[in-house]
Amino acid sequence: MIKNSIYMPPADKSITHRALILAAISKGKTKISNFSACQDTLATAYCLIKLGVKIKLEKNSATVYGKGLYGLKKSRTSLTADNCAATMRLLSGLLAGQNFNSVINGKKILSRRPMKRIEEPLTLMGAKIQLSQGKPPIKISGAPLKAIKYKLPIASAQVKSAVLLAGLYANGKTLIKEIYPSRNHTENMLRLFKVKINIGNNKIILNPREPKAANLKIPGDISSAAPFILSTCLIKEKSIVVRNCLLNPTRMGFIKILKKMGADISFKNKNSADKIKTGHEPYGDIKVKYGKLKPVIIRKSAIPSMIDEIPLIILAATQSKGTTKIYGADELKYKESDRIKSIIALIHGAGGKIKYENKTFTIQGPQKLKGGVSINTSDHRIAMIAAVANLLSEKPIKTINKNCVKKSYPGFFSDFNKFFRK
Ligand code: S3P
Repeated sequence: MIKNSIYMPPADKSITHRALILAAISKGKTKISNFSACQDTLATAYCLIKLGVKIKLEKNSATVYGKGLYGLKKSRTSLTADNCAATMRLLSGLLAGQNFNSVINGKKILSRRPMKRIEEPLTLMGAKIQLSQGKPPIKISGAPLKAIKYKLPIASAQVKSAVLLAGLYANGKTLIKEIYPSRNHTENMLRLFKVKINIGNNKIILNPREPKAANLKIPGDISSAAPFILSTCLIKEKSIVVRNCLLNPTRMGFIKILKKMGADISFKNKNSADKIKTGHEPYGDIKVKYGKLKPVIIRKSAIPSMIDEIPLIILAATQSKGTTKIYGADELKYKESDRIKSIIALIHGAGGKIKYENKTFTIQGPQKLKGGVSINTSDHRIAMIAAVANLLSEKPIKTINKNCVKKSYPGFFSDFNKFFRK
């Protein structure tokens, strides 16, 4: 077993989408270093290329030759967001205010995901959107947009970002109110590209203007690092340092909860406050060591800060002595799979037990996972959790369709096997 090993997570996917989009509509040339090339971010890049933007993709970087706010061109064929909801929702906001029409298609997983959540605010802004029973494909007829005041009915960074991007084309200041804070990468990226944005009290005010190109380096993805972090917490004698990882507070729910559960986690080389002002994201190293975990209570307001990591926390809870409760995680239904069903199927299939009633998970630990099952999923995050569960189970938990991890982290299994072997 490797001790104190250094782990470099792939670049953050969420931030990469935002960087590509703002670079595309800014004035000037943007170099994105530590670029995350996975299916999702490439979907955004290819859509932008179809909209007339020149993007040079290199091994670990991307150079975007910005077209300016009004420089995009109608795509000759429909755009494809592949299986990426962020691509579809963010680009819908971007395309709503253009003077041309667009169609965005999605593949199988994306075609099941709800799009009414963006149709509503964008329509209020004057956009002309057509869905197919609330789902993709999305047809957008470009229209002049008006600024709105909008209270988000759900805590969704993708919906917020669609409205902010549309707001760049609106006739005044757009105001957004959030019920709970969701990831703020669009707000940070707008700042970095010199668009004025005021934030306070869960309220965001955007002053539209043309973004200015900015060079940036993307930190490591905390969501990709999460299976490595949890595995380290759960395996005796193990310790890792996660290098150059995103430390944005709106994404730190998973780490906060693990610390609350008693995990031995500390930070090194934090690079934060002074740079956040200009829009750069905070990052640093996360040192993780094995430690016994305790149960925890998670409230609805904390869910957005760990939305993609909740199923991993559920797995962690099966290994801690006592009762863990997670309230208000119903948004999990609308991810790449219905993750409420998927995580229950995974844990039950492995011989464990968790309960979901009244939008609340109850997990009683510690549990022995027997394993001896094959997990057939097309959901990248569930496949990664199955890899962690495999380390804990008596008999192997095999993942069929390992390729699904290409959506966010093509090298996941090869990296994971280097650090953790059963
Ligand atoms: C994302 C926001 C979250 C998250 C998704 C990426 C983003 O979705 O689950 O993986 O990049 O904005 P919601 O905004 O739908 O909660």
